[in-house]
Amino acid sequence: MDAISYLDRRSKLQDYFDRTANDAWAKLTSDAPVSGIRATVRAGRDQMRNTIISRLPEELSGKRILDAGCGTGALALELANKGALVTAVDLSPNLIELAKSRIPEGNRRNIKFHSGDMLDDAYGEFDYVIGMDSMIHYCAKDMLVVLEKLSSRVSEKILFTFAPSTLPLEVMIRVGRLFPRKDRAPFIEPISHTKLHKSINQSPWFVDWETPFTHLVSSGFYKSQLMELTKQS
Ligand SMILES: C[S@@+](CC[C@H](N)C(=O)[O-])C[C@H]1O[C@@H](n2cnc3c(N)ncnc32)[C@H](O)[C@@H]1O
Repeated sequence: MDAISYLDRRSKLQDYFDRTANDAWAKLTSDAPVSGIRATVRAGRDQMRNTIISRLPEELSGKRILDAGCGTGALALELANKGALVTAVDLSPNLIELAKSRIPEGNRRNIKFHSGDMLDDAYGEFDYVIGMDSMIHYCAKDMLVVLEKLSSRVSEKILFTFAPSTLPLEVMIRVGRLFPRKDRAPFIEPISHTKLHKSINQSPWFVDWETPFTHLVSSGFYKSQLMELTKQS
């Protein structure tokens, strides 16, 4: 990993999610009415969460899951409802407070929330790691190293998403870069599916791993590709 680019991006993301976008993110992840475009994003995100859950066993009792970049905690709650022991980590202390406040009392003992970096190995080892839209702002090189580091702490699967590189997305980002704005989200980094797959196949960290499943969710402005990395037994 280019430590400088990772740390620089991480600090911008923390600032963005903890301050600039905190209210918008709280609203998007609630039931409050949102504009048409945001409604398509919300629908896409619901679809993605359901797809991720469908790739895990029905019975999750006692399974240790890292929700890496948990945001406001919707996925963590669903996993805890299935009996998983969830460690939910996010850079933003404000989102973590909001996530905690959204967890009904009965589920609290199955979820441990932390504000911090998902790569911190103090959180321990896991059966599954999930990174839903939490790596999409890192460049391809850094994303690969994030996955490599997480792989050393997982015994079964990593499920993560990335923004698949498409011409319209590349154009949108390039045009956006011409008009810098202080409150803009750190840019999403479009990733070539083929190149990412190749880098994973060539990485010495993933010699015992397979990529058995990948799935694109496309709903209005939400386009996100799920990839599953499974450790061979
Ligand atoms: C687009 S949001 C997605 C949140 C959540 N996974 C969801 O789908 O609702 C990305 C989240 O990833 C978090 N994040 C990004 N990099 C992180 C890192 N290195 N460690 C922990 N959290 C991170 C951000 O703070 C932000 O809350």
